[in-house]
Amino acid sequence: MNDVLETGILMRYGFDGPRKGIWKSKELEQEICKVFGCNYAQLTSSGTSALTTALSALGIGAGDEVIMPSFTFVASFEAVLSVGAVPVLTDVDETLTLSPDAVRQAITPRTKCVMPVHMCGSMADLGSLQQICKEHKLLLLEDACQSIGATYKGKHLGTIGDAGTFSFDFVKTITCAEGGAVLTNNEDIYSKSDGFTDHGHDHKGVDRGADLHPFIGYNYRISELHAAVGLAQIRKLDKFLAIQKNNHGRLKAILSKVPEISFRTIPDPAGDSCTFLSWFLPTEEVARAVVAELKEQGILPGNFYWFDNNWHYFRKWDHLRKAATLNNLNEAQKQALQQLRPESFPASDRVISRCISTAIGLLWTDEQLEEKGQKIIAIVKKVLSREKAYMP
Ligand SMILES: Cc1ncc(COP(=O)(O)O)c(C=O)c1O
Repeated sequence: MNDVLETGILMRYGFDGPRKGIWKSKELEQEICKVFGCNYAQLTSSGTSALTTALSALGIGAGDEVIMPSFTFVASFEAVLSVGAVPVLTDVDETLTLSPDAVRQAITPRTKCVMPVHMCGSMADLGSLQQICKEHKLLLLEDACQSIGATYKGKHLGTIGDAGTFSFDFVKTITCAEGGAVLTNNEDIYSKSDGFTDHGHDHKGVDRGADLHPFIGYNYRISELHAAVGLAQIRKLDKFLAIQKNNHGRLKAILSKVPEISFRTIPDPAGDSCTFLSWFLPTEEVARAVVAELKEQGILPGNFYWFDNNWHYFRKWDHLRKAATLNNLNEAQKQALQQLRPESFPASDRVISRCISTAIGLLWTDEQLEEKGQKIIAIVKKVLSREKAYMP
């Protein structure tokens, strides 16, 4: 970071002389390729702009449909709408991301891309989704913004589909404060991402003013300061993951003592990045009562009940259902959004209404972890014994 401040060159492109050989963004892109095992990485200003960039580089636009989960972050549909495409919301299953059966049912002649979102540190059923994409000649874009460092069958999430995205915002596994990346093994997708994030510049020469613009792009650049923070963080990734895995395993062992608690389905358990432990209660009523009790006892922070969350679950996206945009959407987008109803996803409701995700702390002491786990199971047992309506 000080290197960048000393040269004063805060921008990632140009100024070759005064920057004295300091290229933090390029260095971080090379590091991402090495650590995550992909051929190309393009840094962006955020995970949201990484999604918009990837969709554009994949050629997705007006008239195209993108299948995405009903449980994700609002950025997923924002990015799809921003390129003119239609977000086709689809049920999730107990993997907490796209249900392959629901994806099959959502395919139409206009479907161009399947976009699983690897929520809460772990993965979608990528094997099944890859098979569907192959059968129907669809693109696979992995939103791995929340699952940096997780793997599926030995490969890092984000590197398995045609393209993948990371977010380095402040609450992610590694952070630049704000930033993101598009990962791909395809040179064409990479070079389109590179131009798209910088007004369409071809980046062929050393004089920015003389660059050609083979297509229109925008400014989704990362700064050298943000990239410098990212470089420091990526070097700590293995350490963060090891702590998460250890704490996750221990908390899961405690919660497993209550037979009524079940856990998220993880298609490749060895690849879980363990940022969250996601667990299910038998019914929505029990889950709500447990959440109320966690709140009452002052230990709700760090435990997320997504069913009532305004950012992550479809049920609360009134602005999407109302198509409350500042500018005009295209007809296909308007029609698709008008069809959405709060009760459109009963299968997802049955999963998400019973789910609580506990964020795994990096700084937990052994005593804090034990205390947290014991308090949670005491609450669950108390609620279960109180819930007369619950029959095992
Ligand atoms: C699944 C998912 N996709 C995309 C994003 C967007 O990332 P950013 O906040 O860097 O724009 C987020 C951020 O929380 C996310 O959770």
